[in-house]
Amino acid sequence: VTSGPSATAVLAQPAPDRRVPFFDLRPVLSRAAAAIEENLAAMHASGRYILSEQVRSFEAELAQAFGAGHAVGTGSGTTAIELCLRQAGVVRRGQEVIVPANTSPFTAQAVLSAGASLRFADVDPDTLLLTAESAERAWTPRTAAVIAVHLYGRACDLAGLKRLCEERGAVLVQDACQAHGLRIGGRPLTDFSPYTAYSFYPTKNLGCLGDGGAVLTTSVDIAAELKRLRDGGREDDQLARVAAINSRLDELHACYLRALLPHLEHWNQHRSRIAAVYDGMLQSPTRGLDNVHHLYIIRARNRDQLRAELLAEGIQTGVHYPAPLHLHPAFASPEHPPGSLPHAEAACGQVLSLPIGPHIDESLAERIAESVRRRL
Ligand SMILES: Cc1ncc(COP(=O)(O)O)c(C=O)c1O
Repeated sequence: VTSGPSATAVLAQPAPDRRVPFFDLRPVLSRAAAAIEENLAAMHASGRYILSEQVRSFEAELAQAFGAGHAVGTGSGTTAIELCLRQAGVVRRGQEVIVPANTSPFTAQAVLSAGASLRFADVDPDTLLLTAESAERAWTPRTAAVIAVHLYGRACDLAGLKRLCEERGAVLVQDACQAHGLRIGGRPLTDFSPYTAYSFYPTKNLGCLGDGGAVLTTSVDIAAELKRLRDGGREDDQLARVAAINSRLDELHACYLRALLPHLEHWNQHRSRIAAVYDGMLQSPTRGLDNVHHLYIIRARNRDQLRAELLAEGIQTGVHYPAPLHLHPAFASPEHPPGSLPHAEAACGQVLSLPIGPHIDESLAERIAESVRRRL
């Protein structure tokens, strides 16, 4: 009960000035405000906050929207990946998981949390993604799984990676934490592997107001096992059947996600139009890839100076990511010395993420691209 403005009125307020933030969720929330309020009211009326009606409904709606049989909500994208590895039995040191060196450190943390070992692969110098060839070069007799990361929203070489994993008997897990709504040649990602993990961190193409994630799969058995593994090994009771973790999607977040999901396609198309403006003015080498444009990446030798100058003009940018995984202190090993994965290393010194998303329109994108072009 409040005497202040309603949530809808607050969400509809414009940004206070003309600075260009890297990220702004307000247009997304504003468009879905009525459905958000309805779901929150239903949750409050139910008095249930964990694994109840909102999460169950969201899981069904998400599976339907992404063309998968089943969705299992989790506490984050990181634990979604971890749960996939645990379900697949990739849980022991010495079982190696191939991870591209150019991705979020959370991809690698998920492998360590599952109990397995890391093996890094270089990325393609143009797409900056894992390929079947780079995975093959990283392969050893201990390879148990490969994590195909659709970084920036770009589809990686999934058909090639699927073939390789099938030939050699390894598990293929997709990290689609930056790729909500991505299809490959019109096909759902779940056609290519039993495990596809998503994050709903607020900045994602589909984000909530905190941490959240999901695994999508076509297998009813895998979905049932993942549900046990996310909930302490239990099955709606107090009996722990297997060693497991606590990684549940909250009802509160599901209220938002259910309301935002019907708008995902609209916002992905909006992102495509912004990317087309940038592509036209900045010569992108990744045109033609299936892509949901979570991040728009350019490369610049003078990246840090360019970034500082754009900020002085009020344009906020990001760096995804400043260091390849094998050079993070947490993941460093004699197997991967500096210089061993040169494409990822070169990219991390040059990549710059331009603002893209619901808060950027085409004329603003032109202004941003012009500011960048002048300085390249
Ligand atoms: C590529 C990638 N993998 C994994 C994660 C981890 O997701 P979360 O932050 O929801 O744990 C993220 C997001 O941060 C990501 O971008």
